[in-house]
Amino acid sequence: MKEQKFEFEYEVYNDISELNNADADLLTRARAVTKLAYAPYSNFFVGAAARLKNDQIVSGTNQENASYPVGICAERVLLGNAATLYPGVSIDTIAISYDSREVKSDHPISPCGMCRQALLEYETRTSKTIRLVLAGQEGKIFIVKTVSFLLPFAFTSDELV
Ligand code: THU
Repeated sequence: MKEQKFEFEYEVYNDISELNNADADLLTRARAVTKLAYAPYSNFFVGAAARLKNDQIVSGTNQENASYPVGICAERVLLGNAATLYPGVSIDTIAISYDSREVKSDHPISPCGMCRQALLEYETRTSKTIRLVLAGQEGKIFIVKTVSFLLPFAFTSDELV
């Protein structure tokens, strides 16, 4: 028997003034785009903004539905937009933020399990790691180097052939 360990490093910033210009710009967009979320059921408005390899910016917001499971997260809306607008172009960084009518937006959130799976496959299909900038409207900011850190033991297409 051999024990193995999975751990990863991430960066913690006190606020947006500590970020480089590109990341600060992307986070500002993610924070702003929460206004376009359609979340009348959870009142939890998520915004995601990506900088692509070609320097284009693509965003996404959560879109809910009266039939709750039909709703889709901001991250997967963003991936669909990126793949459709700029097919084959890899994503360098995604900033994710949120706003809420119920709770304070003062700490980072990280993608749900389903979005981690979708984000990971975007990394593999474009052969490029995706950095994540995670933050509320205020408070600390986390930067994670690659989505794969968030999904150890991932199920991938390698298993299918
Ligand atoms: N949501 C996202 O859009 N992204 C996340 O990373 C977490 C959750 C959405 C789904 C739902 O519309 C609302 O936030 C509350 O779960």
